Amino acid sequence: MTTIRAAITGVNGYVPEYILTNAELEKMVDTSDEWITSRTGIKERRILKGEGLGTSHMAARAVEGLLSKTGTAPSDVDLLICATTTPDYVFPSTANLICDMVGIRAIGSFDIQAACSGFLYALTIGSQFIETGKYKKIVVVGADKMSAIVDYTDRTTCVLFGDGAGAVLLEPDPDGNGILDSIIRSDGVGQHHLFQKAGGSRYPSTRDTVEKRWHYVYQDGPSVFKFAVKNMADVSAEVMERNHLKSEDVAWLVPHQANKRIIEATANRMGIGMEKVMINIQRYGNTTAATIPLCLFDYEAQLHKGDNLILAAFGGGFTWGALYVKWAY
Ligand code: UT7
Repeated sequence: MTTIRAAITGVNGYVPEYILTNAELEKMVDTSDEWITSRTGIKERRILKGEGLGTSHMAARAVEGLLSKTGTAPSDVDLLICATTTPDYVFPSTANLICDMVGIRAIGSFDIQAACSGFLYALTIGSQFIETGKYKKIVVVGADKMSAIVDYTDRTTCVLFGDGAGAVLLEPDPDGNGILDSIIRSDGVGQHHLFQKAGGSRYPSTRDTVEKRWHYVYQDGPSVFKFAVKNMADVSAEVMERNHLKSEDVAWLVPHQANKRIIEATANRMGIGMEKVMINIQRYGNTTAATIPLCLFDYEAQLHKGDNLILAAFGGGFTWGALYVKWAY
């Protein structure tokens, strides 16, 4: 029996125009370019401005470009999955809105919420539908408008996050390239270290929750940092080991972009040099579900068919995971 693999056959990204620099943040909160750069690696991030524009606006731009560059008609798409933690609405799903905006009609679409690991969760789910032979073309999107839930008076979080979107096309690969392995994990031990307390069904938004600033992201950074360093490195090493990959076999590490020091620790644990690590945190900050597809988009020209990639992420929940992908084009 031939195994059908789900391969990424195209990638596209979109970031909004407005650039929020460290210099501008220095005027907003008690911080410095030196602190932000040395502790996180971030120099600037993009912010979506404009009344009534949500995550779907950026995601739809990314998907439109993806369909056009891969020569895919909206009517050819079988399924669309959107990973996001900042959906436009509680319901309907952002995936539903994206389909409407790009002219995709009457297919299945849904959102995945796994914080910064969302894109890896969505890719894992999408790949199952290809591997079973049920679908031939699946769009997987990672998109977040973090500026909608960031408190720009809180220096411990506002310097970290940015807005953006990335999208990939998944198709069956006849040569056996594509998503070869996936590990996804979660542990509720992290639920109070990184979360948005109000706005869901436990604490619906009220004047009181807004006054307490519970509608913003809360993060106990140093605690999350410790878990992230250990788990992102461990899971990356685990996916390498169980696929008998040595460091020299890995062409690229594609890590979630939360903190340059977490990325360096992961690369170090995998035994790979920083020249093989995709990094764009300096330009975009942490765009949550969008970091990994935005990296693939930025580095697309440097990828070759058959390259071994390890995609790795860690995020709120906690959630984390790693995928082994053989690049297909
Ligand atoms: O993507 C989802 C997962 N999220 C992450 O992986 C993020 C994980 N956390 C981090 O990236 C890091 O914890 C931070 C960058 C948020 C902080 O770095 P750190 O090494 O964990 O902490 P630190 O010791 O460098 O800094 C902590 C100190 C605190 O001051 P005190 O209490 O030690 O006096 C903070 O108040 O740094 C202070 N601080 C700042 N100072 C200047 C926090 N934010 C800032 C700031 N500017 N923006």
